[in-house]
Amino acid sequence: MYPEVRLRRTRDKKKMREMVRETSLTPGDFVYPLFVDEKLKKPVESCSMPGVVIHTIDSVPEAAGEARDSGIPAILLFGIPAKKDECGSGSYSKEGIVQRATRAIKDVLDMVVITDLCLCNYTTHGHCGIFDGGKVLNDETLELYGKIAVSQAEAEADIIAPSGMMDGMVKTIREALDESRFKDVLIMSYSIKYCSSFYEPFREVMGSDPSFMGRESYQMDFGNRREAIREVALDVEEGADIIMIKPALPYLDVIKEVRDRFDLPLAAYQVSGEYAMLKGGALNYGKALIETLTSIKRAGSDIIVTYGALDASRALE
Ligand code: PBG
Repeated sequence: MYPEVRLRRTRDKKKMREMVRETSLTPGDFVYPLFVDEKLKKPVESCSMPGVVIHTIDSVPEAAGEARDSGIPAILLFGIPAKKDECGSGSYSKEGIVQRATRAIKDVLDMVVITDLCLCNYTTHGHCGIFDGGKVLNDETLELYGKIAVSQAEAEADIIAPSGMMDGMVKTIREALDESRFKDVLIMSYSIKYCSSFYEPFREVMGSDPSFMGRESYQMDFGNRREAIREVALDVEEGADIIMIKPALPYLDVIKEVRDRFDLPLAAYQVSGEYAMLKGGALNYGKALIETLTSIKRAGSDIIVTYGALDASRALE
């Protein structure tokens, strides 16, 4: 055959490879998750996620500032309350841990603060909704989600990220925000959240493992792809501004399909178990991190939530 196609021509020199590279990461792609624990006197390193620090109210603004100085536009806040109860009342308290942390960051920094909205880390039973009569109740839980969203917006959160997988959660939250002068606050919905074993290290940090039953009755079955499309379609209809898929690496096919079918900004969450695998010691963490993040972006994600955001941003400098 003449002329002969030789794909190695474009791979021969570094500059050439850079020129033809189709997908590149920038720190602007990342969201950096941060944990704040009301019980802590000083920050500690997580056992289940080596390298991830659990913060106090006092240490969290500095950590957010580090992210911002590395070019990361947003953080995602998770709060660990000192006290839990049956209905997770700490989640919507004005003096709740996430509300206080959000205000502490917003007082000193100009960056996007996203707040995770869920009940599992505030309830004694560890479920993402109100538990009664052997079930997690959908509509009763929605009422609480509306209250949590408003309390987070009052603390100046820019984006509310509901992760509880209740039906109708985006609509309820949108209505609650609109009725309370928060029309400009965005909703980034965990639209496709699979019932995954990759959340284990996170649950260890949060103390949010359900004390009985799993989360199968509300999180998605990992064998399902068409159902994932239906989840996104509903959230779009209900007013979501950004769609999220979680976990990321085991679900690249789903990311690709959602990208092909919807035009909304798309986020993928590289979760705690994915991070723990990269950090496990068998791989070169830095290189494997960049490779996996690039794959997630290549599959079609605009935004990547990752515990490696700071490491990746520094490596890209
Ligand atoms: C709360 C929530 C979870 C994660 C994010 N929000 C845990 C769960 O559903 O059990 C997991 C994040 C991670 O593993 O990094 N519902």
